[in-house]
Amino acid sequence: MRFDVITLFPEFIRQAMAIGVVGRALDRQIIGLDCWNPRDYTEDNYRTVDDRPYGGGPGMVFMIEPLRRAVQAARRVAPDNPVILLSPQGQRFDQSRAKSMAAGSGAIFVCGRYEGLDQRFVDHYVDEELSIGDFVLSGGELPALAVIDAVTRLLPGVLHTDASAIEDSFMDGTLDCPHYTRPEKSEEGEVPAVLLSGNHALIARWRRKQSLGATWLRRPDLLAQLNLNKVDQALLREFMDDHKAENGVQ
Ligand SMILES: C[S@@+](CC[C@H](N)C(=O)[O-])C[C@H]1O[C@@H](n2cnc3c(N)ncnc32)[C@H](O)[C@@H]1O
Repeated sequence: MRFDVITLFPEFIRQAMAIGVVGRALDRQIIGLDCWNPRDYTEDNYRTVDDRPYGGGPGMVFMIEPLRRAVQAARRVAPDNPVILLSPQGQRFDQSRAKSMAAGSGAIFVCGRYEGLDQRFVDHYVDEELSIGDFVLSGGELPALAVIDAVTRLLPGVLHTDASAIEDSFMDGTLDCPHYTRPEKSEEGEVPAVLLSGNHALIARWRRKQSLGATWLRRPDLLAQLNLNKVDQALLREFMDDHKAENGVQ
């Protein structure tokens, strides 16, 4: 899988991608990265990439020519990958989009800056727009890094155990269960006894119940989309009863 990133800040992308899980995936060549700086595709001495908006108003607009040339250069090495613009106006990126991207061959990400990009560039060269949430950042670099990280950790061989990604939140529509590690007892409390029992069936049952319960408590919108089987329904009922009893609800 290869990622091409069109950005005015290639060092930001390279440095952030050099560490942790994504850094290991790069070292092992499970993913590849190239950055393309639109400033390298300008023709004036000032390497200008922005200009004032037609019609007036505040801020500057990313110019079409440097973007077009940078995308054309990236497309020459990754002709089959989609051009994805990070944009607060795009489709909301989520785990299911991360999974579908992980099954592909990569993407050419365009990181916007300023008030945005010349719309003609978007209309002609962008295959898809992705947002990481309903808030506005100063540039598309952090969103591109977020998408790359979420996709990379799903690729076979990237995490120490591939199963860890399967148990993450959203993978099956529920939130993850709570996690504990040593010490068994601390000032803040004890590890739930079932996790120390060595009984794998009971542990799996407890984890599933906690996942369903956390989803019910925190993200009822996700729960409403699930078609729970009888076993899950019973586990969730048990969690709800425990929760009500703990909180003194009749
Ligand atoms: C200051 S923003 C421009 C926002 C634009 N004027 C608007 O209101 O839609 C500059 C760039 O940051 C990126 N960006 C900002 N927020 C984002 C988000 N929530 N998701 C993805 N990209 C975002 C986009 O690439 C955008 O072109």
